[in-house]
Amino acid sequence: MRHFLKETDFSREELEETFLLATAYKEGRGRDVTPFLMDQTWGLLFYKNSTRTRLSFEVGIGELGGRTVYLDQKNMQIGRGETLHDTAKVLSRYLSGLVIRTFGHEIVEELAEHANIPIVNGLTDLLHPCQIYSDALTIVEKLGDTSNPLASLAGKKLAFLGDTSCNMANSWILGGAMLGMEIALAGPPDHAPGPETLALLEKDGLPDNFQFTSDAQEAVLEADVVYTDVWVSMGCEDEAKERLEKMRPYAVTPDLMSQAKPEALFMHCMPTHPGLEVTQEVLDSSQSVIFDQAENRLHAQKAIVTLLARESSST
Ligand code: CP
Repeated sequence: MRHFLKETDFSREELEETFLLATAYKEGRGRDVTPFLMDQTWGLLFYKNSTRTRLSFEVGIGELGGRTVYLDQKNMQIGRGETLHDTAKVLSRYLSGLVIRTFGHEIVEELAEHANIPIVNGLTDLLHPCQIYSDALTIVEKLGDTSNPLASLAGKKLAFLGDTSCNMANSWILGGAMLGMEIALAGPPDHAPGPETLALLEKDGLPDNFQFTSDAQEAVLEADVVYTDVWVSMGCEDEAKERLEKMRPYAVTPDLMSQAKPEALFMHCMPTHPGLEVTQEVLDSSQSVIFDQAENRLHAQKAIVTLLARESSST
């Protein structure tokens, strides 16, 4: 059974196909009906809050002819200790696929190990692969060529500022290596990528084409994309005060944007916190593509579930 738990669960050929299919879905939206998920019901199992991930999967699976059922972990028996093994086996008897948002990455891995349906990672503390595919599509649209997506991304420099040990930073390190991009991270020294991130690259035999610095200006120099994320990720609320203090030098300001390439994009996976990780002026600027990123969650994820459903019907 094929799953999508991390960026490298698709080959580069499948990634290229995902981009091309996502572009076709976007261009044909509302006109071409593509019922690849006809008569299918997908579960959306969430342990954490969500606006974009939940809604884009619900709308996208519906547009492909399927149905969704939202499963709140707190109201299920896993919230009272039922094993992931039994949950995976039971859900596989009802559903055609499952999107899960949770804390530990080992939870999605264990569910995938025991499930007979495709499992999609809708964010763990380690990785957020659906966001990376959607964001890479946005970079292709803005700075590249949608008919030749992978070639357009090769060599592009993305500067990631702030919490450089969060799931989005990890995902850009892994996704960037797969895409042949250069990833420059700038954050507090105690948030430098750790051994778990390096192990991800090593597992897939990918180069560590990222650099870490504590100097925000150095990271954004000649960058094609300046990217940031929330400084206090879900589950880190106890560290809020300390994090806000030490990450302040990494706020994305108009001055910092001016050190990147003149046509550089500002990107953020959202939700944003204006006045903290980014100023309102940058969010409102013509360089900001945050709403295109949010929209592309829909198109990219429709392509991801289409590839998984196609694989699962052929096995
Ligand atoms: N970017 C993202 O995953 O948004 P949500 O938390 O709203 O799903």
